[in-house]
Amino acid sequence: MKPRFAVPLLTAAIASLFLLQVDTVTGDESARDPGVREGPAGAGGPLDGLTGTEVEFFNHGREDFNEVEDVGDGLGPRMNLAGCGSCHSQPAIGGTSPAVNPQVAFAEDARPSQLPAIAAFIRENGPIREVRLVRNRDGTRNGGVINTFTITGRDGANGCDLRQHDFAREIENRNIIFRIPTPVFGAGLIEQIPDATILANLAANSSQKRDLGISGRVNRNGNDGTITRFGWKAQNQSLLLFSGEAYNVEMGITSELFQSEREQNRDCQFATVPNDTQDFLAEDALNGTTAIQNFANFQRFLAPPTPSTDSPGGASSIARGKSLFSSVGCALCHTPTLKTGDSTVVALNGKDANLFSDLALHDMGDGLADGVIQGAAGTREFRTSPLWGLGQRIFFLHDGRTSDLKVAIREHASDGSEANAVIRRFNNLDEREKQHLLNFLRSL
Ligand code: HEC
Ligand code: HEC
Repeated sequence: MKPRFAVPLLTAAIASLFLLQVDTVTGDESARDPGVREGPAGAGGPLDGLTGTEVEFFNHGREDFNEVEDVGDGLGPRMNLAGCGSCHSQPAIGGTSPAVNPQVAFAEDARPSQLPAIAAFIRENGPIREVRLVRNRDGTRNGGVINTFTITGRDGANGCDLRQHDFAREIENRNIIFRIPTPVFGAGLIEQIPDATILANLAANSSQKRDLGISGRVNRNGNDGTITRFGWKAQNQSLLLFSGEAYNVEMGITSELFQSEREQNRDCQFATVPNDTQDFLAEDALNGTTAIQNFANFQRFLAPPTPSTDSPGGASSIARGKSLFSSVGCALCHTPTLKTGDSTVVALNGKDANLFSDLALHDMGDGLADGVIQGAAGTREFRTSPLWGLGQRIFFLHDGRTSDLKVAIREHASDGSEANAVIRRFNNLDEREKQHLLNFLRSL
């Protein structure tokens, strides 16, 4: 193998030396991702303008979202972690993967004698990972989530002996893909954007999009035909639905929306199924909601992240970066603002959602392809990631493959990607302009 790599490596080394020299000659600094923005999180609190009662439901929901559940609550038998807030935590509750991956400590919580082997891809300094299998053994498509842990060895799970999935084999067969948590700040605004608004925005600037090779399409619910918008492939309709599904998929807890346990081994059921149900005897409305309603209420009333006006790089650099973001063409997919429709919740009614996404799917080419199909979303298609809150995020892209914004941008370009022409234009900016753009992204 060595001789095959020697020549390209040498060429790369010479090229980088050359580039370095050019930089010193012109005095140009290479643009760099300024990194996670310091200062207050500016996220995790309720929307402005909620009524007192709505704030009560927000607080009640936040408590549940942050709760760490155990076997007696119905956790597992297979799961990825034990609380919504454990995965959605950076830089505040509702966010994404924190700097220290809690999946490692979680694995160690199981009694040492039966400690489930920690899968090789779960690392303390890496992102939280949810695993999907691309294909079944017979070659047909899978695409579903395979849980990383079992309750075996945990308190309250006596008599349950469940092995972990054989991940080593899946890795060897390249049959495994990863997803990291998406933040849910401002999710109630996203939920309230009318289908017609999404479609009108997708149809806007059509000649510019055509010239740059950008098309895009929406994902839709297979039954009622309306636009789905949550998740990396815009695969889910609403916050209630996502909450029910996440409760079952991530934590193994069943509810009135998802009634069946994913792992039905009879030695491993320690709570009534479905685990989360309506309490008909509750003394008031606040205590009468189910857990999945509480999660949905919390997320619906959760404020979007507050961008910084001057950090990093100062106000004028951020302003120039913002206009370059549009002129280069990023904004053709990452739509800066979409307006919510009518809502009985005043704080969600007719508001600007500054999400930097068109909520549509785009073909991102071979480089980002994950081989998974969800609804209309094909193996290379992903929802334009909302970029609000980007300034304080640690991991980027659906599988968390990088913590460097420059790499995240570069990864947009590969065979067949709709973003290729825009990324070429980004690459053609001079280093100072690139820096303005990166500063703008980290101000969000
Ligand atoms: C083990 C980590 C983990 C746990 C626990 C977890 N999530 Fe997530 N969450 C994820 C991942 C990964 C995604 C992206 C999934 C995808 O698109 O395939 C996600 C995405 C979401 C989204 C979509 C947001 C958007 O705009 O795309 C919502 C809503 C959500 N989670 C809610 C919840 C709720 C509610 C709970 C608790 C019941 C929960 N999550 C528990 C990992 C987790
Ligand atoms: C053709 C549409 C399109 C264009 C043009 C585009 N993006 Fe994206 N962007 C996406 C999609 C889709 C994703 C999610 C890809 C994935 O995770 O696999 C994404 C993800 C990102 C992410 C990572 C966010 C996250 O949640 O991890 C950043 C940062 C980003 N884009 C910045 C930019 C910048 C800067 C530009 C312009 C130079 C740009 N994008 C142009 C569609 C686009």
